Amino acid sequence: MSSAMLLPASSSSSSFFLAPRAPTTKLFMCCGNVAASATLPLSTKGGQFIRPHLLDLAPYTPIEPFEILSARLGRLPKDIVKLDANENPYGPPPEVLEALGSMEFPNIYPDPESRRLRTMLAKDTGLEAEHILVGCGADELIDLIMRCTLDPGDKIVDCPPTFTMYAFDAAVNGASVVKVPRLSGFALDVPGIVKAVQEHRPKLVFLTSPNNPDGCLVTDEELETILQLPILVVLDEAYIEFALEPSRMQWVKKFDNLVILRTFSKRAGLAGLRVGYGGFPLSLIEYLWRAKQPYNVSVAAEVAACAALTNPIYLETVKNALVKERDRLFSKLQEFPFLQPYPSHANFILCSVTGAKSAKQLKAKLAKEGVMVRHYEKEELKNFIRISVGRPEQTDTFLSALAKVA
Ligand SMILES: Cc1ncc(COP(=O)(O)O)c(C=O)c1O
Repeated sequence: MSSAMLLPASSSSSSFFLAPRAPTTKLFMCCGNVAASATLPLSTKGGQFIRPHLLDLAPYTPIEPFEILSARLGRLPKDIVKLDANENPYGPPPEVLEALGSMEFPNIYPDPESRRLRTMLAKDTGLEAEHILVGCGADELIDLIMRCTLDPGDKIVDCPPTFTMYAFDAAVNGASVVKVPRLSGFALDVPGIVKAVQEHRPKLVFLTSPNNPDGCLVTDEELETILQLPILVVLDEAYIEFALEPSRMQWVKKFDNLVILRTFSKRAGLAGLRVGYGGFPLSLIEYLWRAKQPYNVSVAAEVAACAALTNPIYLETVKNALVKERDRLFSKLQEFPFLQPYPSHANFILCSVTGAKSAKQLKAKLAKEGVMVRHYEKEELKNFIRISVGRPEQTDTFLSALAKVA
């Protein structure tokens, strides 16, 4: 069979070969001792080789980097109240900076199995290290799971409004998204998920507890119902510490179609160092091991995460401070007639902006006062703002700015 016959008829690369011929140049390629010549049109552009499903990919909209934000607002980073990305305003325990300062062997590649960290995580979570995989943030694990499970054309179930990386990574991996929007009050539409699984035969469903951006929890009953379906369930617990509820890490030993994701970004103030982790059933984790980038967790990231776990009292104290502050922020937000805050189990509060006020304008006015919040103008979330919980003094600055711009 000639290699040309292997080209799928519908492949857009075939249109490249059928395009009007441009001036050409001769290339010599050496392969062992075999030299071959190929003809390269001079107008060849790198973009012509992009996989078709990526051609229309909408880029992910990340949060503006702190230094750039600081320059744009004309304010020093310390004068910006950054409540737009659910970061931990207290940062990591002091042991982290000490450990980073005395880090050994940054010139040597890290342990591809992150053994030290996984052993410490086993102690922290009560789940054996063989079930645990560490990633460059939970973000990497979301993508890794999809890369290992999805063929182009496969489907995932997404329950918007939720963390937008699920839909983004699905698009990157050539999968399509079956949306099962949340009910009013942001509860999961469990019968809707059951129906979607029966109708569309998706491979994965992403659930988030507490959910970003509203802070709702997934109940045991909801999770158990969804786990009965023929689908891999990824339960993202990035904010579980703030819910004062136990993590379901241990459930992966009972349910072979369940993955739990967690992160050091929120609980340990390590968002900038990128460390996430997950609990996986053994039947799945072995394939993720094979497919992951060998050195995905840097030496610095592993050192920092291990050091953070040596000070559980600090982590607990910071969590309690944020939970207390969340409750104070919630009651203060209720005093503003144009805001309707939703009760949250995470380190942020979502508010509907009511009346004639615009969430976008509110966000822009707050930014001029040096206070950053997130706003939403989406199909499932029109005219909302989300405020991350800060330190008490940051809440006070935010509240004064809100009163001023209202
Ligand atoms: C629900 C959810 N999952 C995962 C992440 C990403 O976590 P990480 O920083 O570990 O990549 C976020 C970040 O905001 C999130 O909101």
